[in-house]
Amino acid sequence: MLRGRDIISVNDLSRRDFEKIFEAADEILKAPERWSAVLKGRIMATAFFEPSTRTRLSFHTAMLRLGGEVIDLGETEKSSIAKGENLSDTIRMLDSYSDVIVIRHRLEGAAKLAAEIAEKPVINAGDGSRNHPTQAMIDLYAIRRFHERIDGLTIGVLGDLKYGRATNSFIAALTKFRIERLYLISPPQLRVRDDTRELLVEAGVEFREVERLEGVMGELDVLYASRIQRERFPDPSEYEMVRGSYVITGESLRSAKDSLAILHPLPRVDEISFEVDSTSYAKYFEQAALGVPVRMALLKLILMG
Ligand code: NCD
Repeated sequence: MLRGRDIISVNDLSRRDFEKIFEAADEILKAPERWSAVLKGRIMATAFFEPSTRTRLSFHTAMLRLGGEVIDLGETEKSSIAKGENLSDTIRMLDSYSDVIVIRHRLEGAAKLAAEIAEKPVINAGDGSRNHPTQAMIDLYAIRRFHERIDGLTIGVLGDLKYGRATNSFIAALTKFRIERLYLISPPQLRVRDDTRELLVEAGVEFREVERLEGVMGELDVLYASRIQRERFPDPSEYEMVRGSYVITGESLRSAKDSLAILHPLPRVDEISFEVDSTSYAKYFEQAALGVPVRMALLKLILMG
């Protein structure tokens, strides 16, 4: 079902695809030693043309934990990109050296282009401000672990809904499930993209766009916070107008349900204050740790079925 497939956007994935990945991740967490050689002899190539900590390192860790090997393009200043090599030629080479390619790029569409060139499966590790499908897998898996379900929950997504590929992919992935209600919480300038809003309408998800967190906090089972994507603003003065729009503090959590789970794709800047880290609501570091079993599950299913 997932074997040999490119993973470019959550829109290409069915609910069943997500569930297959979640079930494999459950098995991995239960008995990691059984998975330690399943990708022996396989090579994953990573090409990150934009900064990354968690995504790059958890992909590497996942491949190594499965017994596979990793080659990394490294910093673009040190590879032939610095000599003017184009993306297609770089991908063509990686395709001949490896069994699966993981790419991150500043430009929306770069992963799709790579998938058209490469014969081997391509996994999008984030391109532009629209797609970050493996982050969405981790986010939904984290919710499933913390709440034991996704269906029936009330979820708030807070922050940069316009430029955030993590938020847009998360929202798109939610349309595969039957959540109770979705609150999209953002400044007016950073409201969700039209194409994402259309997905919600098509899927019949009950959603509301609001500006303030206070009014909805008490209803939420999950609060997905995100960083304002400074580097994607065409005009720096536009960023200055919205920076620091939201800061979640102990005070803002006073009306929260006991079972509220706060998620964040990380890195955070100033939208969650440090005092929240020690509360039972803070699930973002556990969420980041789940990046390894989820990416292990995905790599295994793509390379071996
Ligand atoms: C996200 C990204 O790169 O889109 N980071 C991640 O992969 N965890 C979120 C962000 O940079 O804000």
